[in-house]
Amino acid sequence: MASDQIPGYTYGTDDIPDAPISMDEFDRLKQTVLFDEEDEEALRRAGDVLEEQIDDVLELWYGFVGDHDFLLYYFTDGEGNPDEEYLERVRERFGQWILDTCDAPYDEEWLNYQFEIGRRHTREKKNQVDDADAVDHIDMRYLVAFIYPITATIRDFLTAGDHTDEEVDEMYHAWFKSIVLQVTLWSYPYVPEENW
Ligand code: HEM
Repeated sequence: MASDQIPGYTYGTDDIPDAPISMDEFDRLKQTVLFDEEDEEALRRAGDVLEEQIDDVLELWYGFVGDHDFLLYYFTDGEGNPDEEYLERVRERFGQWILDTCDAPYDEEWLNYQFEIGRRHTREKKNQVDDADAVDHIDMRYLVAFIYPITATIRDFLTAGDHTDEEVDEMYHAWFKSIVLQVTLWSYPYVPEENW
């Protein structure tokens, strides 16, 4: 599905407010996770390998969430009833996000959308774009803890391409850095600004 047809996916549109940090500050964060142009190149290669496998990756990640009631909880009404339509809609954006993580230039538009993704995990914006009636907030500890499964599980998918072990390693580390960077940005609405 073309990205402009994905419900609720508003990357690059006028609906997205400007990021609350400058590109200079963003650059300092990138330096902190040792993210540089070589990582961007490695992510492009990763995108080529992952593109064909998006459904399989999502199957694995959704299976992981579905296997843990306390994670599936965030897609429910809080009383044990998962919202299937909500799960489906978020899944499509999640698939697009894998491609964006690999292919999008990490420019101002990308940065602006990171803060939007952060808000969508919190009371500020959760449920809104899908008009869902699920619980209204995802606790930050799970966002941070999720870095590990989202990273560790990608490795097998990266080996499916025609790349040497060294290249797979480069893609894997670039992915890991990007996920840490993104979750750091997404943590913004969770804490008082002066502490962030
Ligand atoms: C939304 C990724 C942690 C539940 C999303 C989206 C992405 C994403 C890409 C869609 C963004 C968009 O609207 O374009 C991630 C990643 C995580 C993470 C990479 C951690 C590394 C979690 C956790 C949960 C969760 C721990 C809870 C089980 C949700 C829900 C939405 C969502 C319910 C829909 C939010 C809305 O109402 O708009 N996530 N997520 N996420 N995620 Fe996460």
